[in-house]
Amino acid sequence: MKPTTQLPMPDAAMQQHSVALTEHIIQRIQQAGGQIPFSEFMQHALYAPALGYYSGGLHKFGEQGDFITAPELSPLFSCCVAHQCYQVLSALPAEQRVILEFGAGSGRMATDILIALEQADCLPAQYWILELSSELQHRQRERLQAEAPNLVSRVQWLSQLPDAPFSGVVLGNEVLDAMPVERFHVAENAALERFYVTWQDEQFAWQVSNEEMAELNTLLEPFLDTLPSGYMSEYNPFLADWMQNIARCLQHGLILLFDYGFPRAEFYHPQRDEGTLMCHYRHHAHSDPLCLVGLQDITAHVDFTAVAETAHDAGLNIAGYTTQASFLLSCGISDLMQQIDPNDTVNWLRQTQQAKKLLLPSEMGELFKVIALTQGLEDVPLLGFSHDERARL
Ligand SMILES: C[S@@+](CC[C@H](N)C(=O)[O-])C[C@H]1O[C@@H](n2cnc3c(N)ncnc32)[C@H](O)[C@@H]1O
Repeated sequence: MKPTTQLPMPDAAMQQHSVALTEHIIQRIQQAGGQIPFSEFMQHALYAPALGYYSGGLHKFGEQGDFITAPELSPLFSCCVAHQCYQVLSALPAEQRVILEFGAGSGRMATDILIALEQADCLPAQYWILELSSELQHRQRERLQAEAPNLVSRVQWLSQLPDAPFSGVVLGNEVLDAMPVERFHVAENAALERFYVTWQDEQFAWQVSNEEMAELNTLLEPFLDTLPSGYMSEYNPFLADWMQNIARCLQHGLILLFDYGFPRAEFYHPQRDEGTLMCHYRHHAHSDPLCLVGLQDITAHVDFTAVAETAHDAGLNIAGYTTQASFLLSCGISDLMQQIDPNDTVNWLRQTQQAKKLLLPSEMGELFKVIALTQGLEDVPLLGFSHDERARL
């Protein structure tokens, strides 16, 4: 639980919370015979019921939390997403329009999208939020109640995907990067070794095992010759099932996933030899997922080629892939900015600064990508993908 130097020290209550989760994970390690795969450690650290970083009651989002996501940063982001939703929803009968959002955080995006779609006279009949944390469900409901009380009756919280197929739009902002990943490295003999977590000398520690990882071997085959020994990285073993489940219940519509990441050739670039695991704690980013257990976010960048492959295998159409900047520009962020009153200098400056963060290549503009997956939609070019980069996947 000890933070790496330079990180702020958690207060006593937070330390207690972390100790409770640590004990929970130690128990799992003992039950498993002394070690668990890193993916299981990450699953507990983020989602152990009532104790994990996302399932516990910590304040994670925004200035007071650990990190800021695009919808938290500026309402312009969600307005642009609403424009893309409009294109798909307006072609559906009103009573069939559904939006399903995965992991809705503070409820910022849901609130702003609903308000924007109400103004466009294209409200979904239902806005479903699939949220794993009951504390976050509560916060989302409070925000909607406060800022869009007339729309809250359209929102329904789900704990799993619906049984019956539906039509509309599925949204996920920074959800894929919060899914547990396996960590591995390339050993001296060029074999791939999986990382496990054990409890040693009163702290969590790494262990490696050279068991066969067939799925990873296949995925990395084209790159293996280029990766030096000691090369470390991650992969998401849960993506294929997740995608299959969504594809099964989306009858007709669009899935839009926003996240930071790269096509596979960049993800497994020889120079990215320490992988992409990143932890966020009170706006400090570092790379030690074994400390501050339950108090910090743990993320990995997204291999967008894997997203496209799993979507294809699940029968979805890969309808677009582009950078966040290009998506927002195509969805009309410049027009939205022109509507901001320049005489209200403080607001104008604030919104301009926020838009720069969303768009600049040195900020979120290029690292963040958007992928569009469709099912049963006519081959209409999607609004946000006029500059399409699918060829890079
Ligand atoms: C970094 S937060 C992003 C929150 C919010 N979308 C935003 O942009 O502010 C990641 C969210 O993804 C959720 N998440 C991760 N895996 C999920 C899954 N399989 N189903 C639903 N939510 C998931 C987490 O619970 C968490 O709320």
